[in-house]
Parts: sequence; structure tokens; C-alpha cells
Amino acid sequence: MSDINVPKHVAIIMDGNGRWAQAKNKKRTFGHKAGVEKTREIIEACAEKGVESLTLFAFSSENWARPEEEVSYLMELFVLALKREVKMLNRNNAQLRFIGNISGFSQKLQSSIEQAIEQTSKNDGLCLNIAANYGGRWDILNAVNRLNRAADSDQSITEDMLASELSTSGLPDLDLMIRTGGEKRISNFLIWQAAYAELYFSDKLWPDFDALELNVALEEYASRQRRFGKTGEQVCE
Ligand code: FPP
Repeated sequence: MSDINVPKHVAIIMDGNGRWAQAKNKKRTFGHKAGVEKTREIIEACAEKGVESLTLFAFSSENWARPEEEVSYLMELFVLALKREVKMLNRNNAQLRFIGNISGFSQKLQSSIEQAIEQTSKNDGLCLNIAANYGGRWDILNAVNRLNRAADSDQSITEDMLASELSTSGLPDLDLMIRTGGEKRISNFLIWQAAYAELYFSDKLWPDFDALELNVALEEYASRQRRFGKTGEQVCE
């Protein structure tokens, strides 16, 4: 595959861990553990392909409503993964960032996040953004409120102004959003940023989504004609 058509910014809704585990008569948490393994494979594949920015939906603002046992398991898993995966991120020259309301997490998790960010801060390859306690509406409201506080009352807010206050400010525009697990919706993930993104839905459950499946998604992306609201002829001119 030619590098020319590699998307600069890919976002993934990693869905299907629970169903994957249940199909094996295991607890949902078993699926999350397998999900982390897949996350590593996909991060490495993106770094190798030259994707500039990868944003993963690890925990939505709505996920707090899950059974307490599952939520605490996920929190422990995140702490563990952050400790373990720093080496892999450094090996891949990947810089870790977080988007979302991190202050909603325990002190222990917040410190692990800060440490991992610091330990990968000198890398200048793939930018890995973990969306945690994240919601797209939260992101937009945050941006609007910040602009509002700084506002000169005569000034209208422009798209560029709003985009520069979003949690993704400074990242390339979102090119491709992938969702695994068979559902076909965006679920409040990067709703502003997805305005012109290509959407790719896979029936594979996240623990079954591997580097080969990612390739299929990237190849499909490369074959699509992006119009950004123009006609096909205008794009080809
Ligand atoms: C969706 O599957 C998955 C989650 C809510 C958690 C995602 C987290 C991981 C894959 C771990 C990633 C870890 C890091 C450190 C980035 P689901 O439980 O909604 O599955 P279901 O739709 O089958 O119930």
C-alpha cells in the first residue's frame, strides 16, 4: 500500500470486548484484558504505517454506569497497562496524550497517567491519544465555555476558534473513524472532529481486530474519494 493515502489521524471505538468474552463463557473483564493486548498490536501497526495520530476511545463519560466491578477492573487495567506499555511506546517513538476529564479518576490512576505522559514526552513519532472519561459533547461544551470566559462580547466564535479549544487542538484533522463490534454509530466520540472523517464499521469484536483487519480498513480508506462537500468533478480537477 502506498504511504500517500495513509490517513494522518485515525480514531477507533474499540467495541465488543464483553461479547467476545461472553461467547467464550468468560466474564466481561476477560474480554477487556484481551482488548488491551489488541490495543498494543494496533498501536504498533499504526506507528509502523506512519499514521501521525491515533485516538482510542478507552472509557466514555457514560461508561461509569457499568457495574461497579467492571468499572474498577477497567481502572486497575488502565494503571497496569500504563506501567507496562511505556517501553513499547518508547520503542515505537510514540508520544502518549490523554483527552477527557482526567480529574474524574482516582489519584492513583491520575499519577500513572501523568508519569506515562512524561516518560514518552520526548518521542516525536505517532501521537497516541487515549480518550478517557471523554464525551464529544463535553469536549464542545468545554471549548465553548472557555471561549465564553475569554470573550469580547462583539466577537462571533469561528470554527477555527472553537477547534483550537477542543481537546484535539494541534492534532491533524480526523481522517478515519473505525468502530468494531458491529454497531454503526459514533456514540458521542469526537463528534465535532468527525465532521468530514471517513467512517469504517467492522463486525469483528475488538479482541479479534488485528493488524490485518486494520490493513483492510486502511485500504478501504485509500480507495475512497473524499469530497469535503464538493462534487466528484471538483475534487478531481
Ligand atoms: C468496549 O467493549 C470496550 C470498553 C468500554 C473498554 C475499552 C478498553 C480497552 C479495550 C482497553 C484499552 C486500554 C487502554 C490502556 C487504551 P464493551 O465492553 O462495550 O463490549 P460489548 O459491546 O461487547 O459489551
